[in-house]
Amino acid sequence: MADQHHEPGQYHLRAAGTSILIDVADGDPRIVHWGSDLGAGPVDTAALVNGIPNSMFDETVVASVIPQAARGWRGTPGLRGSRDGRAFSARLVLTEATARGANGLTLRLTDPDAALSVDVDYELADGGLLLARSTVTNTGTQPYALERLSVTLPVPARAQEGLDLTGRWAKEKQPQRHTIQQGTWTRAGRHGRTGHDSTLVIAAGTPGFGFGVGEVWAVHLGWSGNHESLIEQLPDGETVLAVGELLESGEIVLQPGETYETPTAYAAYSDAGLDGISDRFYRWMRARTSHPTTARPVVLNTWEAVYFRHDLDTLVELADSAAELGVERFVLDDGWFLGRRKDDAGLGDWFVDPEVWPQGLTPLIDRVRAAGMQFGLWVEPEMVNPDSRLAREHPEWISGPGRSGPNGNGSMPWRRQQVLDLVNPDAWKYIYDRMHALLTENDISYLKWDQNRDQVELGHNGAASTHAQTAAVYRLLDALRVAHPDVEIESCSSGGARVDLGILARTDRVWASDTNDALERQTIQRWTQLVVPPELVGAHVGPGHSHSTGRTHDLSFRAITALFGHFGIEWDVRGATDADRAELAAAIVFYKEHRGLLHSGRMVRVDHPDAAVQAHGVVADDGSAAVFAYVTLAGSRFELPARLRLPGLDPARRYRVQLGMPLAASAMTGHVVPPWLQNGTVASGRMLGELGVAMPLLNPEHAIVLTVSAE
Ligand code: GLA
Repeated sequence: MADQHHEPGQYHLRAAGTSILIDVADGDPRIVHWGSDLGAGPVDTAALVNGIPNSMFDETVVASVIPQAARGWRGTPGLRGSRDGRAFSARLVLTEATARGANGLTLRLTDPDAALSVDVDYELADGGLLLARSTVTNTGTQPYALERLSVTLPVPARAQEGLDLTGRWAKEKQPQRHTIQQGTWTRAGRHGRTGHDSTLVIAAGTPGFGFGVGEVWAVHLGWSGNHESLIEQLPDGETVLAVGELLESGEIVLQPGETYETPTAYAAYSDAGLDGISDRFYRWMRARTSHPTTARPVVLNTWEAVYFRHDLDTLVELADSAAELGVERFVLDDGWFLGRRKDDAGLGDWFVDPEVWPQGLTPLIDRVRAAGMQFGLWVEPEMVNPDSRLAREHPEWISGPGRSGPNGNGSMPWRRQQVLDLVNPDAWKYIYDRMHALLTENDISYLKWDQNRDQVELGHNGAASTHAQTAAVYRLLDALRVAHPDVEIESCSSGGARVDLGILARTDRVWASDTNDALERQTIQRWTQLVVPPELVGAHVGPGHSHSTGRTHDLSFRAITALFGHFGIEWDVRGATDADRAELAAAIVFYKEHRGLLHSGRMVRVDHPDAAVQAHGVVADDGSAAVFAYVTLAGSRFELPARLRLPGLDPARRYRVQLGMPLAASAMTGHVVPPWLQNGTVASGRMLGELGVAMPLLNPEHAIVLTVSAE
């Protein structure tokens, strides 16, 4: 790695078109630029220093890397806390700056009076993703109660439009946009998990930014506990993005010498819209040593096929039926353990229930393995039903605020379950041992690790413990991965309530949502994939009649939707018609043929002029091929729909474009398809990106998939 070169008083991190320029000249380090590459050499910042207006501090106000009142910051402070009310306002000054590798920097800020030391770490990865985190150390002799430590990044005044995401069960990752004005736009998550409404990123951009246009600055917090993300504009015009953990009262009290480290904040800048943001996240994620490298196997999950109706004969039939279709991983969902005949009992009793599985899981696993498939198993290790052996034996292992009341120590029930206090080492060990035993005694390649409730009052020994619980869950996953390095783990949380880079550091995919309704999935997957590449986003073909919404969709729409993720099935395919089975098998062949491209290429979403249409594609890194989907979310208002542009191709190359799968019979009513669709067409990447190709007037909630290959 090249050593860094810096001008006096400046640190300049540069990678893949992004610059971070940090001015440390006067001991108050501040980011003066996070955005496009400023080029090599010194950057003259003299002309950036502001004047002093009336009714203002007598010195220039500085938004330090940890914004602080002592330097005139009147917005949300980067650090808050006190020693019994004292040391409430630190004056942190740079005492040491250490450059690391090509693009790493640690700034040490200290305040001897408040007896605090804060390390601010930046690492600009090769692909331009910035990793930032801060660590505070209590260097004093008295405890320091920490209330807040966040990562704050400035954005320029032209970033006038904000974007964040929200959602609910079965409708996660819904975008919301607003004009940035003076004030603080806060997205807080107090679910004790990431949350169905978690924003994934807090972003600001130039007005009207889209997937392919505009400048965008976006920050994601890699954390699965309580969190807060904000866009803040102060009266002086300074605008910042800030993310951090939300701490409960008294939750983090640092004893002398102790430290607290923020979760990692991941920040991306793009001058090419949101696709450029995804590029940076995908490049970083795909470069991780833990990133899955094997072809993502076609999954069949039993949940919407059989729910709790576990019985060997049925499941063997389902497994055989799945194998015939080309399924490669068979996942047995909820219902296999002691007392778990429905969703009100059994959590915590992680023993195969002899009542439904008299010979254990082995006969099913053997059959699944003999059919050439991997076997996966559902677990929800963090939870306990009051109606379980575990809760009866260890009521003291339930996490809660330490009240005595109708729920014992626990909080309001949710799906008839409470949370295990994994901060308690005995509870942690019990769960570790049970998971370890299951994985040792059975030939299991995959765990669907679920977490099905909000955890709003987590407590250990009567003190708030969301932070410690989240860390304990991470430790549990980490330890199991060390013991069982070949077992893949999926992060599910009532669908997509735990989608973040903290959990993804120790899991191999997320379950984006409990809805398999293809229409809902179009939006959910599009926005989940803003940060998470498609190979890590589970996407299943559900039954024709959606269990979660009651909508009916044909198989073509369901399959084309699942194609742009980690493809699977969640449907009792035994009962499917021969025609449906043939079509599903063909979709699986198509997925297997294209998954190499779909799971490594660049994701492009088309800024399409018709709001009734959504289109996206994945383009191979070397520009040699692509797969695009054209999707009607509703009926178009146009008789002749707008052409579909295929952005991201090499303008100089010529490509053959054709239908990837046959059009569904129900896709059109009395409309003649554009002639080119019959046999495909050949055109330059420039032509395809600029003028596009004519599209038929599709009925609502249908899709077309196109393959594109360089001639
Ligand atoms: C949660 C998950 C589902 C399924 C059920 C089983 O709701 O999100 O996919 O596993 O639990 O109880």
